[in-house]
Amino acid sequence: MARRTLDDMDLAGRTVLIRADLNVPVENGTVSDRTRIQRLVPTVRDTLAAGGRALLLSHFGRPKGQRVESMSLRVVLPALEEELGCAVAFAESPGEAASVTAGAEGGVALLENLRFHSGEEANDPDFAAALAAMGDVYCNDAFSASHRAHASTEAIARLLPACAGRLMQAELEGLEEALGEPDRPFVAVVGGSKVSTKIELFGSLADRADTIVIGGGMANAFLAARGIAIGASLCEPGMEQTAEMILQDASEAGCRIMLPTDVVVARELAPGAPTETVPVEACPPDAMILDAGPQSAAAICYEIFCSSTLVWNGPLGAFEVPPFDAATNAVAAWAAALSGKGQVTAVAGGGDTVAALNRIGVAEEFTYVSTAGGAFLEWMEGKALPGVAALEASGSR
Ligand code: 3PG
Repeated sequence: MARRTLDDMDLAGRTVLIRADLNVPVENGTVSDRTRIQRLVPTVRDTLAAGGRALLLSHFGRPKGQRVESMSLRVVLPALEEELGCAVAFAESPGEAASVTAGAEGGVALLENLRFHSGEEANDPDFAAALAAMGDVYCNDAFSASHRAHASTEAIARLLPACAGRLMQAELEGLEEALGEPDRPFVAVVGGSKVSTKIELFGSLADRADTIVIGGGMANAFLAARGIAIGASLCEPGMEQTAEMILQDASEAGCRIMLPTDVVVARELAPGAPTETVPVEACPPDAMILDAGPQSAAAICYEIFCSSTLVWNGPLGAFEVPPFDAATNAVAAWAAALSGKGQVTAVAGGGDTVAALNRIGVAEEFTYVSTAGGAFLEWMEGKALPGVAALEASGSR
């Protein structure tokens, strides 16, 4: 692979433009999950250790080319400074960045939200040139934004010597190891609320996985497609036919599909709401399916036990509202234990999945946990990611 890393670059006395993904969850003005910030630390640390200055570039939210105060990256500064253990200067615009970087204490600066400029999402060569003018070396550490062909992920890699950061390296190595040529049997767990966001994923997994476990709200469309009454459960309109096609394709490809056999139902989605566990065929007409039942969770655990590779994207129930996190937690704990013992290669990705693993403290035991959501999905779908392709093209120049 022709990708360069920080080790291949001369960084001494140079300003390194580090494309990070600081698109982190914020609640009440504070970063509520620091995973992406923590995973960026090795790249900044190694840049500084090699004598470079770090100028961090990132998007935050979707301001669509406008300055939107609530989407200023200033909100991440306290968490960033704490995790890096140094002061971080802030530059409002590319024009201001050079002076800020030169004076930055500890050599680290952060540029305001790239998406305040319409040139970013348009992959505009002029905006890329304005960014490139701020530094000497480009380092892409944002695997999770690499499915976007934007000025800071794609065009800029043509303008400066480019390399992958430590997190980008870890993501590519972690995912290539698990998904390149997976040891079989290979089970994929796909959950979350919407089938529509994962149609291509199912298409690609049907050809590669031995078993696909379907959970979360999206399972309702598959149950409905099999003629099972799902009561008052949420079901994406018009998705039953799509689900039927996915089931058909999987069966033709020889891929087994596992759907819940028992479910946890309730009349409201609220913490501690009264629940019933019923066979999947017995959902009361006025109740919603909000989690997979214990029998289904046990069957998924057994499937993972019989597998050599697990790839997981999407929770099995409404995990953010206990007690509807029970199946996700049980399967996560089991997969982590098997992975920790080296019995299965377990890879997980996607914001909700990672939040669920972090919540019960098992992420560390997984073989690899990706910081990416959309990029992880596109990688699993077998698509080339423009940000990664640009690094490879730069490496072979
Ligand atoms: C993410 O959070 O998945 C990435 O930062 C990409 O964000 P986007 O979907 O707004 O491009």
